[in-house]
Amino acid sequence: MISLLPSSKSWFETEKNIKINHHEIEPLLQSLIVMAWMVETRDPYTGGHLWRVSQYCRLLAEDLGLEKSEVARIALGGFLHDLGKISVPDATLKKPARLSDQEYESIKNHPEVGARIVVGHPLAALVKSAILHHHERPDGAGYPYGLDDGNLSVDSRIVSICDAFDAMTSTRPYRLGMSMDQALKGIKMNLHTQFDGNFGHIFIELGQAGRLNHILGHTDLGIPLQTCLTCGPTMVVRRNQKTGDHTYCHNCAAEAVIEKSNNKIEIIATGLKGSSKALQPNVDFDLIGEFVTTSASALIVQ
Ligand SMILES: [Fe+2]
Repeated sequence: MISLLPSSKSWFETEKNIKINHHEIEPLLQSLIVMAWMVETRDPYTGGHLWRVSQYCRLLAEDLGLEKSEVARIALGGFLHDLGKISVPDATLKKPARLSDQEYESIKNHPEVGARIVVGHPLAALVKSAILHHHERPDGAGYPYGLDDGNLSVDSRIVSICDAFDAMTSTRPYRLGMSMDQALKGIKMNLHTQFDGNFGHIFIELGQAGRLNHILGHTDLGIPLQTCLTCGPTMVVRRNQKTGDHTYCHNCAAEAVIEKSNNKIEIIATGLKGSSKALQPNVDFDLIGEFVTTSASALIVQ
């Protein structure tokens, strides 16, 4: 049996370490990431969002000097935080205009829906605080519970900052993403109200030191999000794809050919549209596999 450290203050109580057989950890982690990926496939315009949030979380947690098991757990929380968005209707999730009050209420359900879905999973205690509380705020104005500063877990504070930063710097169908500097200013203006003051300050320093550059606008290590001529940065190249393979814009269906050379990746538009088969969502099992292997050993508490 091995022991895993659950997130603190998840559902307002400290839980005992999770005990599982060591040969179960990798398949269980894999099942969690696959669940998260299902959500990402619903909104392909945000390609790589979960990976980026997870990477930002890992960097921030490491810089805070947390234990490696906590760093791995928080990176996992970054992947899973939006699980409950599976319940948000397409018309709301992809709406290019301001949401009505009713639509906003349905968005606000996603932390509780995610927590309810994950609770039956053997590793739920690792991620439920990140899922349930990532829209809570130190000033108590967050949702779903309006928790105050004293009741927020480290996990939710970190995921909140990293999720907001990726949302600000990502291009959507109706707006361009902000620059790094603009987004860091946005965090700075909301320290102690929307974001944890101490953690937010350290995240800003990471950005100013250039230590977020390899994540921003990327979908994997060394792989930038590629630009569709019509829609902007929407095209994802997976690590196992090679020169001559195709990639597609899941917003307008444009097709492009991938060229990989000397660690450089380019795409060339073909002028064609992808068939519905070509446009089916894809899962990067190589990326998932590496994440699972790295996380599994780090999560074990001696
Ligand atoms: Fe969320």
